[in-house]
Amino acid sequence: MKLIDGKKTAEDIRNELVIEIAAIIDSEKRAPHLAAIIVGEDPASQTYVKAKEKACLSIGMTSSVYKLPEKTSELELLKLINFINKDIDVDGVIVQLPLPKHINEQNIIDSILPSKDVDGFHPLNIGKMVLGLETMKPATPNGIMELLKRYKIETEGKNCVVLGRSNIVGTPISILMSRKSKPGNATVTLCHSKSKNIENILKEADILIVAIGKPEYITASMVKKSCVIIDVGIHRLPDSSKVSGYRLVGDVKFDEVSEIASAITPVPGGVGPMTIASLLQNTLKAYKLKN
Ligand code: GUN
Repeated sequence: MKLIDGKKTAEDIRNELVIEIAAIIDSEKRAPHLAAIIVGEDPASQTYVKAKEKACLSIGMTSSVYKLPEKTSELELLKLINFINKDIDVDGVIVQLPLPKHINEQNIIDSILPSKDVDGFHPLNIGKMVLGLETMKPATPNGIMELLKRYKIETEGKNCVVLGRSNIVGTPISILMSRKSKPGNATVTLCHSKSKNIENILKEADILIVAIGKPEYITASMVKKSCVIIDVGIHRLPDSSKVSGYRLVGDVKFDEVSEIASAITPVPGGVGPMTIASLLQNTLKAYKLKN
């Protein structure tokens, strides 16, 4: 079994970016700049935004974080995005999701300038991705493609099953895996809550990408021998044997599935670190396109 090490790969990408950013700063240009907006107090979102800020600063990028209260109106948020869209010193902007219920997420995503949409969520960027045009791709799917590429996982002609159809992961990764590209060229089945006979479909998967948000849902008896497993889930399970009182698990029961998989991403240290690495890559891309 090959362990697909996202932590190490993300570090490699960060080291590549450090060299490029140092060269930019050496030539007396300003550093690429990412702005992040967080609305409300969701603890997971706060952790993710902090990690994104830390990652930016660690490679020499500029980071601005706008923390807005839970009660912020949609209009106030739209005004802030408009302000950042016009700021020529900001290259990329992300709005951490989920947003409070009273704010329409799609209105917010639509208001981000596509050239600054480093999350790759804007309909224009999604459309370009579907057509196979050069664009900023959503961070988590892009990170998965980067792992498959760097670990030389063969995808052409393989049966790829994606569990989960979210706009952030399931839907875009199903498109990327089926595109005429390398990695890509897979035969993709996208399963969701209304799918039937999931057990039979799973058994046909050469590559299984799991993003359904259910802790340790996939067990060894559900997957084919020598399957490649990409686990996008991350959950805290209570564990009194740990000092923290919890352990992190994915959507896949790692211990038993890793016994029969040919390659697998761990949790933590698999897809998670790659999401941030992709965001940094997209921010540099946005910077370069502008300058
Ligand atoms: N919430 C969960 N994943 C993401 C992501 O990749 N970007 C943003 N903005 N919010 C998220």
